[in-house]
Amino acid sequence: MNLNNKILKYINGKNEKEFDPYYIYDIQTIKDHCRLFQNISYKNKSIHLASMANIHPRFLKIVKNEKVNVFVNSMAHLKAVMKLGFSGQEIIFTSSALSEKIMKYLERFDVQLNVDSPNQLKQWQKLFPEKATGIRCNIGDKVKPYSSHAGFFIGKESRLGFTREEIRQITDKSKIKGLHLYVGTDIFDINYFVNCYKELIEIAGDFPELEYLNLGGGFGVSENGEAHFDISEFDSSVSELMHQVSIQKNKSIKLILEPGRIIGCKAGYFVCYVTDVKDRDDKKLVGLNASAVQFSRPLLYPEIARHPISIIRDGVQLVSDTAITTTIYGCSTYSRDIFANSIELPELKIGDTIVFGNAGSYSASSHLQFLGFPKPKEYFI
Ligand SMILES: Cc1ncc(COP(=O)(O)O)c(C=O)c1O
Repeated sequence: MNLNNKILKYINGKNEKEFDPYYIYDIQTIKDHCRLFQNISYKNKSIHLASMANIHPRFLKIVKNEKVNVFVNSMAHLKAVMKLGFSGQEIIFTSSALSEKIMKYLERFDVQLNVDSPNQLKQWQKLFPEKATGIRCNIGDKVKPYSSHAGFFIGKESRLGFTREEIRQITDKSKIKGLHLYVGTDIFDINYFVNCYKELIEIAGDFPELEYLNLGGGFGVSENGEAHFDISEFDSSVSELMHQVSIQKNKSIKLILEPGRIIGCKAGYFVCYVTDVKDRDDKKLVGLNASAVQFSRPLLYPEIARHPISIIRDGVQLVSDTAITTTIYGCSTYSRDIFANSIELPELKIGDTIVFGNAGSYSASSHLQFLGFPKPKEYFI
């Protein structure tokens, strides 16, 4: 991965002989990715960052300035975004198995809620009979559900949302103001999104007071640079569907999207350095001053997480044709503390700075306390 001058200068500028691992984010890249979604041509829309991808207050302020709202799934994240000034109507809360206490809190602050099951809907309606809500839909009987590293989000294998039958059985459909769908994560196939959305639109016909369709997130970011999420194809398909549904309903239906990974992924870098090198037969084992609990995507998803790596030696980005099979490990005793397994890299030396790319989403936000390594600092430039 080629680091741009701004990032390289910042890393070299820190110039500490022994630094603790940290994250840097390129603010402009975060803004650019917010704008990709804000520029979708369908006008009646609201874009909500999925806060589990990045909950840093600075990150949230950047997206807020881009007029991007938030989607949260926990009370801690709800309180964090409220503290930053997001109003109830700018926050979507979609989760599962909510307690009455949480429902009351959401109602008090007028947060937009999508409930996950018939019993959750009953509880909500018992508490607030006059207050319409959204429901999370588990379509998937006509679409072949996409299975990702994080499992299934629709279809029989998914624990989430109302099934088609449960949706049919809702007695007072006029109390449902929105339908929510999340079809999976890291998807590039626009046809898959469209086929799933069409299923939802079919359901929309049964809800006379419908105000919005929340089509979730799941927009792919390539691990190896091969695939590309085609936002303009997505824009034309989704805008056309939204126009159709608005014609059907005879009123403008709001489009809601909840992008997560795609907003910050490419903006973020995780920076650490080499503290040990071991020889093992035909392989090098390279140890870092960081643990994978501080940059946990490779730990949580070892089968798919492939983060591009840059090496800085003596202030200069290393370019080398030599390729040595290398496993990069973390500075703990945990056998799975691995950042990258058997990848080809130039020969690394103690003191080399290692920069992992695609580290701006689900990275700092999924720091694990396990093993006792601190949460790395995050810098925005
Ligand atoms: C309901 C919902 N919406 C949006 C997102 C964001 O997904 P992604 O990062 O794949 O865009 C998630 C992630 O888990 C989610 O559960």
